[in-house]
Amino acid sequence: MLEEAIQGLKIDPDGVYVDVTFGGGGHSKAILENLSKHGRLLAFDQDLAVEQNAIPDERFQLINGNFSNLKRYLKFNGVTAVDGILADFGVSSHQFDTGSRGFSTRYYGPLDM
Ligand SMILES: C[S@@+](CC[C@H](N)C(=O)[O-])C[C@H]1O[C@@H](n2cnc3c(N)ncnc32)[C@H](O)[C@@H]1O
Repeated sequence: MLEEAIQGLKIDPDGVYVDVTFGGGGHSKAILENLSKHGRLLAFDQDLAVEQNAIPDERFQLINGNFSNLKRYLKFNGVTAVDGILADFGVSSHQFDTGSRGFSTRYYGPLDM
């Protein structure tokens, strides 16, 4: 679905885009590949663990937070309008595969949903 999602965004190379569910960063990387040096991508994830996936690119900014506060975070970062928003809802496999995260039904750990 990566290709379809990127096509659906109809990316303007100079535009401002938001990935509200950054996770492993696969969608964000694909968006960046379609942006010019003037484009900008802001990504959200409320899971602190995804910071290890942050993309070293000056057009990219990772915000640790819940996208329910999207408007407030964007305004804080000087963004008042965007050209597209991508949402890939759910949890990531690394969240399921680590018992201590509280989501796993396969590994021992305290439930924390
Ligand atoms: C299915 S994964 C996204 C995978 C990502 N598209 C990629 O290419 O790797 C969903 C991510 O959204 C995050 N997430 C879920 N609900 C969220 C929320 N309300 N605000 C911010 N992040 C959220 C999860 O922590 C998880 O990392």
